[in-house]
Amino acid sequence: MKTSAEWNCERDALLDALRDFARVMKRRPFDNEQGLRGVSAFALYWFVRKTAPSVVFEVGVWRGFSTWLIEQAAPSAEIHCFDPLFMLQHLIPRRRIGKTYRSPRARYSIEDFSCAPIRELLAGRAGALAFFDDHQNKLPRLLQCKASGIKQVVFDDNMSAPYTHRTLEHERAADPALLDGEIETYETFPALWPVDFRYGDLHLKEAGMGFPVERELRDIYRDRNWHSYVTYVRLR
Ligand SMILES: C[S@@+](CC[C@H](N)C(=O)[O-])C[C@H]1O[C@@H](n2cnc3c(N)ncnc32)[C@H](O)[C@@H]1O
Repeated sequence: MKTSAEWNCERDALLDALRDFARVMKRRPFDNEQGLRGVSAFALYWFVRKTAPSVVFEVGVWRGFSTWLIEQAAPSAEIHCFDPLFMLQHLIPRRRIGKTYRSPRARYSIEDFSCAPIRELLAGRAGALAFFDDHQNKLPRLLQCKASGIKQVVFDDNMSAPYTHRTLEHERAADPALLDGEIETYETFPALWPVDFRYGDLHLKEAGMGFPVERELRDIYRDRNWHSYVTYVRLR
């Protein structure tokens, strides 16, 4: 499990990548509201860049901002997007959803990830990554990845506070040994700036790593409270 001290050792690399991300974000298709924002959007960019996957399975797409982020971080990866929304979208007034980003490079599916032919889509290729932002329980998703031969997984919303689904943090709290046999690496992206966010009963508070608020980082800094504990897992 990556510690704060270990994240601190990567401070320079994080700041370089954050500046690069700020330049990428100037080309964003829209300002995302309900999905990844601020440092959490950077977290997905960071993990995808680090792992350089050949294939990405994105589960929980909504307006497509995370698809766009994945494309920026892995320009040559094949992308498979899963969301039941694609089946219902035509029933929802366009103004309710707002702008969307759908990529000509991605394959879109209404199947649940657990029912999709992931092994066939992988076709024996190594270096696949799955990203889950679907608000479903995370342990079954992790086991579905294992069964399909995917070893690298990124989860959004992996918080320890009670939320819409059971996170890996909830599993760890209930049984600290449960995940040890499955997981080789577990890295929860840190807050780069202080976080103090209340939403209903949810209260997120983080001290942050004290990053500078440079002029070009201000848009990301402004969204710092949308911290969603983006977590990278590498299975054994
Ligand atoms: C928070 S939104 C995703 C936001 C998006 N990743 C972003 O960053 O902009 C959650 C999405 O999960 C989708 N969802 C719900 N159940 C799902 C399932 N079983 N499989 C895939 N997506 C699901 C919802 O339709 C919704 O679009």
